[in-house]
Amino acid sequence: MKDPLSELIEFLRIPSVSANPENAGDVARAAEWLAERLRRAGFTVEVAPTAGHPIVYAERLAGGDRPTVLIYGHYDVQPPEPLELWETPPFEPTIKDGKIYARGASDDKGQLFAHVAAAAELAGETPVNLKFVIEGEEEVGSPNLVAFVEENRERLRADAVLISDSPMFAPGLPTLTYGLRGLTYMEVRLRGLGRDVHSGAYGGAVPNAAHAAAWLISRLKDEMGWVRIPGFYDDVEPLSPQEREMWRRLPFDEDEYRREVGAGDTSGEPGYTILERRWARPTFDVNGIGSGYQGEGSKTVIPATAFFKFSMRLVPNQDPDKIADLTESYLRRILPAGYQMEVVRYHGGYPVLVPTDSPPMQAAAAALSQAWGRETVFTREGGSIPIVHDFMRVLGAPVVLMGFGLESDNLHAPNEKLDLINFEKGIEASKNFMRLLPEYLEGGQ
Ligand code: BES
Ligand code: ZN
Repeated sequence: MKDPLSELIEFLRIPSVSANPENAGDVARAAEWLAERLRRAGFTVEVAPTAGHPIVYAERLAGGDRPTVLIYGHYDVQPPEPLELWETPPFEPTIKDGKIYARGASDDKGQLFAHVAAAAELAGETPVNLKFVIEGEEEVGSPNLVAFVEENRERLRADAVLISDSPMFAPGLPTLTYGLRGLTYMEVRLRGLGRDVHSGAYGGAVPNAAHAAAWLISRLKDEMGWVRIPGFYDDVEPLSPQEREMWRRLPFDEDEYRREVGAGDTSGEPGYTILERRWARPTFDVNGIGSGYQGEGSKTVIPATAFFKFSMRLVPNQDPDKIADLTESYLRRILPAGYQMEVVRYHGGYPVLVPTDSPPMQAAAAALSQAWGRETVFTREGGSIPIVHDFMRVLGAPVVLMGFGLESDNLHAPNEKLDLINFEKGIEASKNFMRLLPEYLEGGQ
């Protein structure tokens, strides 16, 4: 049997970029690779086709009286571009200073594979029934997973859902995440003219779509970080003093955070700390913008069209569809005369909060603490894993977010990496969790 790291390297070599149709064959190959690995570990595996990329479903049952753990992860990765900023090629995994560099190292192949390796190592023991549901479309909004979960409600039934697709709070600090933000992703496309025109011949007398885009953006969020869409904050659940106090005790250095991200200054709503802004407050961000001349030098032109893509991160009690409705009707109301506007809605996701006192969470805290030799901290996160809401809704099982990554892993960016120690401790923590869960479930009944 190969060691887990060599196997992870094989997995990372497959460029399973879900967003790029040219990589569809590679995405399918990654699914088959996983299926084969799980079969070798004694799992019964199905590679279920979907309208998009396949879902790998695997189970290895220990017996009816044993508790069941469902592990979710994703084998697809973000596009590697811009390639010129990678120090080593994204699909040639490279080990340097105790870290493995490759697209997907942290998000999510490395974190997911820690559980596959743990399951393989536990093959002789059978503390729990194990099920895996691993999708290939997380990075494009999981368009086919909700239907799969609903249609396979019985098959997926579990006492706990275990997910490793999030960071630890700090290196060496075992972390359980009990909250994730939700998401509403949209795009505005504007047209002010039938074609681009000379900015001298026409300038001052015709609409300019780039200006309309800038004007709309300025009306969506103010310079203090306050979102200006009427009703946006209506359903936001306020932070409790206890939670604020718990976060204040986490080892967080604002100056170091600023340096690490290369920002001149941090930004956001007054009255909230950086952690509060990221974990408990909703926000609006432009993710892409385009209009007019983008080439070398200058060109005197009035662009006929403009677009901007934007997303809103949501917190408990906000509803992604309601937010999309509010945003669209506001945009239509404030759109200056003379422009055509198309509003596109992409994926969304509900925010989640999971109880920290459930037996699976407590078992996970003990499993992590054993692996790292330190007490586990509880945090929320700013990112989104939309399927978590559906797991809770459809399966009704407690979800455990046991991240093995780090904030500094360069997720979605060049030079993504995973610390090897996190991979090793991840395997250990996963095995600990499988062994500890039965007694915690019994104790909790
Ligand atoms: N692994 C991330 C989610 C994440 C990031 C959790 C940071 C906690 C902290 C996941 O793969 C991801 O990027 N999700 C997308 C979801 C979207 C495409 C629907 C996100 O958050 O942008
Ligand atoms: Zn991910």
